[in-house]
Amino acid sequence: MTGTNLPTPRLRAEDLTLSYDQRTVAAHLGVDIPDHSFTVIIGPNACGKSTLLKALARMLRPRHGRVLLDGAAISSYRSREVARRIGLLPQTSTAPGGITVGDLVARGRYPHQGMLRQWSAEDEAAVVEAMRQTGVLELADRPVDDLSGGQRQRVWLSMVLAQQTPLLLLDEPTTFLDIAHQVDVLDLCAELHARKGHTVVAVLHDLNQACRYATHLIVMRPGGTIAAQGAPADVMTAELVEDVFGLPCRIIDDPETGTPLMVPAAPRRFAPEDPEDPEDPEDTEDTEDTGDGAPAAATDAVMAEPR
Ligand SMILES: Nc1ncnc2c1ncn2[C@@H]1O[C@H](COP(=O)(O)OP(=O)(O)O)[C@@H](O)[C@H]1O
Ligand SMILES: [Mg+2]
Repeated sequence: MTGTNLPTPRLRAEDLTLSYDQRTVAAHLGVDIPDHSFTVIIGPNACGKSTLLKALARMLRPRHGRVLLDGAAISSYRSREVARRIGLLPQTSTAPGGITVGDLVARGRYPHQGMLRQWSAEDEAAVVEAMRQTGVLELADRPVDDLSGGQRQRVWLSMVLAQQTPLLLLDEPTTFLDIAHQVDVLDLCAELHARKGHTVVAVLHDLNQACRYATHLIVMRPGGTIAAQGAPADVMTAELVEDVFGLPCRIIDDPETGTPLMVPAAPRRFAPEDPEDPEDPEDTEDTEDTGDGAPAAATDAVMAEPR
């Protein structure tokens, strides 16, 4: 089908033009989402990451090109069939007023129900498991409106997990979460991918988290083009970060994982002093007393007791 010997991935976008009204966000955009990968999409604000995710989940119809799901145009499927295969966590969502956490998460089961298939023990188990995985089980009876931003984010994620789809598209799943909960959510995604064989696609802002967790990285640049894609260790370079984000940086090895760690270049005022620099008055700080009782360095002058 592809004209190559590589297997066709379950989800692929071919030559997409994505627009809102007359405004084109991306043109000639093609991506393959490797099966069973943890794919992370990174790129600057407004470059089209959410727009691409919406197109992949059939929430946005491309102006040109097509998305293929399991070898057929995604537009040819019934909505329920797409929802059984792809779960989308949008960047922003609004819950129906007054709905409880449990009822919202239960909505993730809609694609599995029908005229002849009412709420079952299997649905109940999926909802409880999804709430447990995201740590919101104890919030089940609380109205979603009353929750903090971080709790709400985990409830939405829980709803997508309850859908139990082999493909998960998550738009900034770590937004609003404190660092420990960010790690929890990313660990959960990694587990779904590694242990259960799910294909996870997530938009993330933190490049270092992206490099730690992604098995496949897609780097978008402004204008909705792909700047690079591949394994983080192969694609993440200082040149790429400067090109795409306009940020000078260094890439070093993450001391915990060995994955690329992006360290932004410090502005000069924060740069460590060069002990060899003869121009720098601070370098004299530890030199011997000059003999006339005057402090040797400017900082000492500030700290000195008045005589
Ligand atoms: N519903 C919309 N209507 C019109 N323009 C939109 C809409 N959603 C996004 N855009 C525009 O499309 C561009 C890409 O947006 P988006 O895909 O949300 O970027 P990202 O997720 O990379 O930050 C931006 O310029 C944004 O303003
Ligand atoms: Mg976005």
